[in-house]
Amino acid sequence: MKILLVGSGGREHALGLGLQADPECTELFAAPGNPGIAEFAQCYPLDISDNAAIVALAEKLDVDLAVIGPELPLVNGVADLLRAVGIAVFGPSKAAAQLEGSKNFAKEVMADAGVPTARSFTCSTQDQIEKALDIFDAPYVVKDDGLAAGKGVVVTRDRDEALAHALKCKRVVIEEFLDGPEVSLFGISDGKTIIAMQPAQDFKRAFENDKGPNTGGMGAYSPLPWAPSDIIEDTYTKVLAPMITEMAARGTPFVGLLYAGLALTNHGTKVIEFNTRFGDPETQVLIPLLKTPLASLLYRAATRNLEGVTLDWREESAVTVVLASQGYPDAPQTGGEIGQLPEIENVSIYHSGTARRDEKLIAQGGRTLTVTGTGLDLTEARDRAYRAISQISLEGSFYRSDIALNASVAEKGN
Ligand code: AMP
Ligand code: GLY
Repeated sequence: MKILLVGSGGREHALGLGLQADPECTELFAAPGNPGIAEFAQCYPLDISDNAAIVALAEKLDVDLAVIGPELPLVNGVADLLRAVGIAVFGPSKAAAQLEGSKNFAKEVMADAGVPTARSFTCSTQDQIEKALDIFDAPYVVKDDGLAAGKGVVVTRDRDEALAHALKCKRVVIEEFLDGPEVSLFGISDGKTIIAMQPAQDFKRAFENDKGPNTGGMGAYSPLPWAPSDIIEDTYTKVLAPMITEMAARGTPFVGLLYAGLALTNHGTKVIEFNTRFGDPETQVLIPLLKTPLASLLYRAATRNLEGVTLDWREESAVTVVLASQGYPDAPQTGGEIGQLPEIENVSIYHSGTARRDEKLIAQGGRTLTVTGTGLDLTEARDRAYRAISQISLEGSFYRSDIALNASVAEKGN
């Protein structure tokens, strides 16, 4: 099977390694890819907002499967265009990707499907906004309705800040604050069947102890030793399956990866958000733990053939830590040279935002590398990830030292 993987981050690097490890994958292409992916796949430069270029490349390469990493091409409808020319796609249609593209749409589908989530109001005038803020009180949760590359959500006790953010958005969802640990739980769907993956947790704030601004994610780990033992079953029954049924009933079946961002509250599990693609950096811990061959799995999803499939996981833990450029997330500095990458057993270093310049590896994005360690437990996995990341040099770069720390301490207490 020939596969085209679209995207250029650490998520795609991890997915690419997973796809390539499956003997069913005979050729792997990436667009645009990155220097890490280029070590094992042919890369083609391309602008991921250019749907026509993606389709033309997939046709030229005559691929059997396209795997779309990031949300932008999905929300732009690239999956529909690829399907129209007969190429199987792992990734939702434009209509189904609205679960990520519009917070208001996601709320409507959840309401119809009976999926638990925060109470909310969708507002477009100052009057509506002020009323909604007063009903919920602090902490205020204000979400831009549309895609905002991780900058759309403000959670604050400061009413003026909440109001100012809301007024900047054309349409805004204001919702109840959900208190409780956050979990990312992904489902792989063919439109009628959905299979839950094991849960992961990511760390959204830039600095230790969850301080600083929200980011795309500074690290992640899996599995979660502290989570309720029925979390997969419970999320499948209350969230994933009803969403897939509802999307199919609306005539817009969801094919691809449904990412449920959950809050485990005192009143049960509630959905914080949906994404319609693999999470980054959660993918960098889930793929190394997944034993089920990835190319065949995603192909079966793309061709509506998932019934009866179960997932097989390594009995290990994985921890990933992001190396961010100086100034991330507000004003990341790029262009800095990255030193020689260490080679350590049970450690994978995924390229998230790098480029080659004159044979040298340089930082190109805010998140430059994602370093995953695996081990028999979180403590061992953490030690490996941190040992590796501490050996990488990039001037001004930083990483959080507390990724999976509490969970690894709790694990030892068990
Ligand atoms: P999102 O972009 O929807 O993932 O939101 C970014 C982050 O904002 C989430 O990971 C949460 O930490 C926080 N957040 C979003 N919605 C809520 C909510 N209703 N209650 C508490 N925190 C929230
Ligand atoms: N880890 C958060 C995201 O992928 O959106």
